[in-house]
Amino acid sequence: MKVIAILASPRGNRSFTKTLAESAMKGATEAGADAGLIDITKKKINYCKACDTCYKLGRCVQKDDFNEVYERFLAADGIILASPVYFNSVSAQLKTFIDRTADCRHCLLLEGKYGMSVTTTASSGAERTVDYMNEYLVNSGAFVVGSAHTAMPYMPKNMETASEKAYELGKDMVEAYRTKRQYPEQAAVQKAFIDRFCYVVKANKDTWTAEHDHYLKKGWFK
Ligand SMILES: Cc1cc2nc3c(=O)[nH]c(=O)nc-3n(C[C@H](O)[C@H](O)[C@H](O)COP(=O)(O)O)c2cc1C
Repeated sequence: MKVIAILASPRGNRSFTKTLAESAMKGATEAGADAGLIDITKKKINYCKACDTCYKLGRCVQKDDFNEVYERFLAADGIILASPVYFNSVSAQLKTFIDRTADCRHCLLLEGKYGMSVTTTASSGAERTVDYMNEYLVNSGAFVVGSAHTAMPYMPKNMETASEKAYELGKDMVEAYRTKRQYPEQAAVQKAFIDRFCYVVKANKDTWTAEHDHYLKKGWFK
């Protein structure tokens, strides 16, 4: 099993969120996975231009580091999203990456993968930030095993507790993948989206050719 952590804190090795991501990776590795980390704050990832070309071609045509990161993201079986809380949400770097994956969300390209999220915050917004990341993963087709977070990470006890949780979730993500664990509530959200969105894809069949082909192949049209 391949696991990738997407780190979106610009603080490098001083990042508390990175520490949680590394704990999750340690858990995953000890459970038998091959885990790697991409610090997307060190990558050149432009804003989405909303050109819709990925809907047509199945890939982004911008020339920057996005495609290389996206390829590794899509090749993973397990995904750890790791962003600090910035103004009660994810950092701009993670949001910018997420916006570039619109075709992934439309086609639920994370189907069959498992995911989890980690965050740290001075005081506010941790719950809603992991909820945001986990919602993105589920909406894009993955099953989410949980999240680990803490406020006041400079207090060692807080980081210790959150790191232990991240470690256990990393292990559990591997177990979930191995046993193909099902999450009926998450699957229902995904199915409801497909049942709705297939009409949008059909309406755009002449221009969204890659997405139309995907829905056809999956048998998602009604
Ligand atoms: C731009 C910016 C926005 C932030 N917004 C919040 C916030 O809304 N609430 C909060 O409690 N802390 C906020 N913080 C503090 C960080 O969430 C906190 O320091 C976090 O642990 C940093 O994680 P890192 O060490 O992984 O970068 C903010 C920090 C920055 C730089």
